[in-house]
Amino acid sequence: MQFEFSLPATIRFGRKVRFELNALLPSGAVLVLTGNHALEFLQREKSALFGARPVEFLAGIPPEVPIDFVDAARQKARELGACAIVGVGGGSAIDAAKAVAALADENFPTADYFYLKRMASPRRVTFAALPTTAGTGAEVTANAVLHDAATQIKQSLRTPDMAAQIALIDPELAEDAPFGVMAASGMDALTQAIESFTSLRANDLTRQIAAAAAKDLLTHLVAACRHERVAVDAVCRASMLTGIAFSTSGLGAVHGLAHPLGCVKSVSHGVACAVLLGAVLKNNASRVPEIYRALSAALGYADAGSFFADVATLREKLGIAAKFDFALTVSERDFIVSHSRSGSMKCNPVAYSDGELGAILDQVCR
Ligand SMILES: [Fe+2]
Repeated sequence: MQFEFSLPATIRFGRKVRFELNALLPSGAVLVLTGNHALEFLQREKSALFGARPVEFLAGIPPEVPIDFVDAARQKARELGACAIVGVGGGSAIDAAKAVAALADENFPTADYFYLKRMASPRRVTFAALPTTAGTGAEVTANAVLHDAATQIKQSLRTPDMAAQIALIDPELAEDAPFGVMAASGMDALTQAIESFTSLRANDLTRQIAAAAAKDLLTHLVAACRHERVAVDAVCRASMLTGIAFSTSGLGAVHGLAHPLGCVKSVSHGVACAVLLGAVLKNNASRVPEIYRALSAALGYADAGSFFADVATLREKLGIAAKFDFALTVSERDFIVSHSRSGSMKCNPVAYSDGELGAILDQVCR
């Protein structure tokens, strides 16, 4: 058995760990990339989080992070002379910050690295991540999902050392998330846990981590959406665990389809995952039942059918429909299928033809 993990150098988990950030950062100016929601508490807690150092906030990161936005933020980091880039928010804010930190000292446009025309040299600025949603695991992963509006391509930017030096997971930051946000990001995490377990690149260790995360999400997600403290902590921890597992194992067909779907339809990543998950589970399990038997057993189910039923019940309790409320045009369907052949799709335990992927999309669209 051989495997490799690329993880943040320091992961701290727990309520109030955000206040350890200032001591962990090198001295000097900091550029903070954040969502609009998190900006409020960042401004309120600015001196406790960053001390007296110069800090600039760049807020309002779109859900699909445009490569032009990364270019503009890199410019801002240079003007500020930032020694650290901090991402505070959901997956988009953290991935945007991850990309800016990875390319802060590079001289060419982000597109060159996004399309693999160039490879970035090792990062010199410090990168820290503080998630405010429980779902993406972006704080512990070593890739940044970006979007090129010109080509409609959404894919991962990868450079040699993208994992954060510092990941601080403070459940207090996720606690007040609206029901729908916690529900969608939690279903993203559950999908990541399931796809990590069934991935062709999974190993014994990632499977154990993924199963532990899936179990916590199935048990605690509904209560977390109702802001119950113990459940919020469990879901935040599970989300982080999915990131640790899938950064090594990869994912599967749900994520392969969800990324291009998010480019053509305005649906959140979490909701896209939640809806696609039911159809992909059914199709995958009809071809490779043994891996789902193993996952169900690891979660304490007698059979895969009862596990799948619980996943569907959870989705319903969270107010997410079994199907999308839109239909796809022929060109949208073709776009999604032709752009779904990502690293995630390659990890799916079943290799699908384009026709089969189109049929899966038909099962979940109006
Ligand atoms: Fe995801």
